Amino acid sequence: MWRAKVSLQRQLLLWLLIPQIVLWLAGAALYYNVATHYANAVTDNSLLQTGRAIARQVQPLDDGLMIDFPRAAQLLLEEGPDDKLFYTVSTVPGGMILGNRRLPAPPGQPAADHPVFYNTTQDRESIRVLSLFYRLTPDRWLHVQVGKSLQPRNRISREILLATGVPLGLLIIAMSVLVWWGVSRGLRPLDKLKRGVEHRVPQDLTPLETESLPVELQSLTQALNQLLSTTNESVSRQRRFIADAAHQLRTPLAGLKSQTELAMRETTPEGLRDRLNLVHASATRSIHLVNQLLTLARSEPGAQAGMPGMKVDLAKLIRDLTAESVPRALAAGMDLGCDSALAEATIDGNPALLRELFINLVENAIKYIPRGSNITVRLFEQGPDYVVEVEDDGNGISDEQKPRVFERFYRVNQNDGNGCGLGMAIVKEIAERHGGRIELADAQPHGLIARVSLPRQRPGE
Ligand SMILES: Nc1ncnc2c1ncn2[C@@H]1O[C@H](COP(=O)(O)OP(=O)(O)OP(=O)(O)O)[C@@H](O)[C@H]1O
Ligand SMILES: [Mg+2]
Repeated sequence: MWRAKVSLQRQLLLWLLIPQIVLWLAGAALYYNVATHYANAVTDNSLLQTGRAIARQVQPLDDGLMIDFPRAAQLLLEEGPDDKLFYTVSTVPGGMILGNRRLPAPPGQPAADHPVFYNTTQDRESIRVLSLFYRLTPDRWLHVQVGKSLQPRNRISREILLATGVPLGLLIIAMSVLVWWGVSRGLRPLDKLKRGVEHRVPQDLTPLETESLPVELQSLTQALNQLLSTTNESVSRQRRFIADAAHQLRTPLAGLKSQTELAMRETTPEGLRDRLNLVHASATRSIHLVNQLLTLARSEPGAQAGMPGMKVDLAKLIRDLTAESVPRALAAGMDLGCDSALAEATIDGNPALLRELFINLVENAIKYIPRGSNITVRLFEQGPDYVVEVEDDGNGISDEQKPRVFERFYRVNQNDGNGCGLGMAIVKEIAERHGGRIELADAQPHGLIARVSLPRQRPGE
């Protein structure tokens, strides 16, 4: 799926500026409306005052009316330079008795003594009109209409708009610049961190500097440093391992080379056969070493093949494995037996790796105990685990050596049989891959017990 690249700076600017600008504009619109409302109210009020003043110039006289509106006063009203005033006074019902212009009737139903204001057009000019039904006597009414050009009011509105809009625009620009500057400044440590990571060579796994960073970035950097240190550890482990493996492989291969050279110089068939036997032994050792290295690589964390994923019946696995190993044990003059109280013991795991685990333990027992000894493979339940023990009555391993035999390429005695020192490291990796553990204990009266505990399949899984 395509996704636009998200810029933190842009997001921050958007989230800070847009709401602010919207609020500022809404505030300005509100301010403008309130101001024009008051400007309208002032216009309407002055229309009403004028309307009432004009109405007072008409007095009832017997059945007729007396109009006391001197010409000078009329001129005064009409002559405002931009405040042109239009007015009409009519009797109800009846006709116009005073005025300078006929004005259109108000919209809707007129109400007595209730002023009505409306906008209309006169000579292509917008005007505001007051319509007032004025009570002269209890049964006589006057309809007074006063109109005034809207120009002055519109001018005031424009001035208000200009007076608020220009400083507001400048304020918005100044605020945007300040916010942009603040956001860029605030994000500077992130930039610094990015540059620190970008300019690194891939081999540089030293921790990133956290001191000068803000707290929000410190936890991220600490997590990154944690990752770097784990990667560093694993890379150095791999490097050590490759160096060790190359070193270990060199010995049998160098042996193989010199054995073949010697074989080529042999002249008698017997001598040649002896040499070839040695060549074969060296080749077998090399193959064993390579196989052990591959098994170890497969059982390491991160290797796909090491992922537990299938149901494995431990009872069947150790029964089969013991049966397969019996001929080799017999050939070495040993008694190998299987003792399991359980007909079935299912765990989640990788059958090939679990097989390697137990083969290594049984092979060790066959390899490192004297002729005539006994080996027992035992399976039982203990708490949440299935436990497999491989017990022999050989010479065992001393307490100081016990932890060391789990180290890669470590052997108690270099001249003891054909081994490369990887078996117990493999056993430990595979047991841990399956959430289990391996312990070494002394058998009674002598010998070794290799005890592997693996978590049982949980009910409902
Ligand atoms: N049952 C045992 N009794 C006595 N010593 C043992 C026993 N099992 C292992 N050891 C000792 O522990 C050492 C480490 O065993 P490990 O299986 O890791 O390596 P290895 O057998 O030498 O080589 P590999 O198994 O890789 O061929 C062996 O060299 C051996 O001395
Ligand atoms: Mg071994």
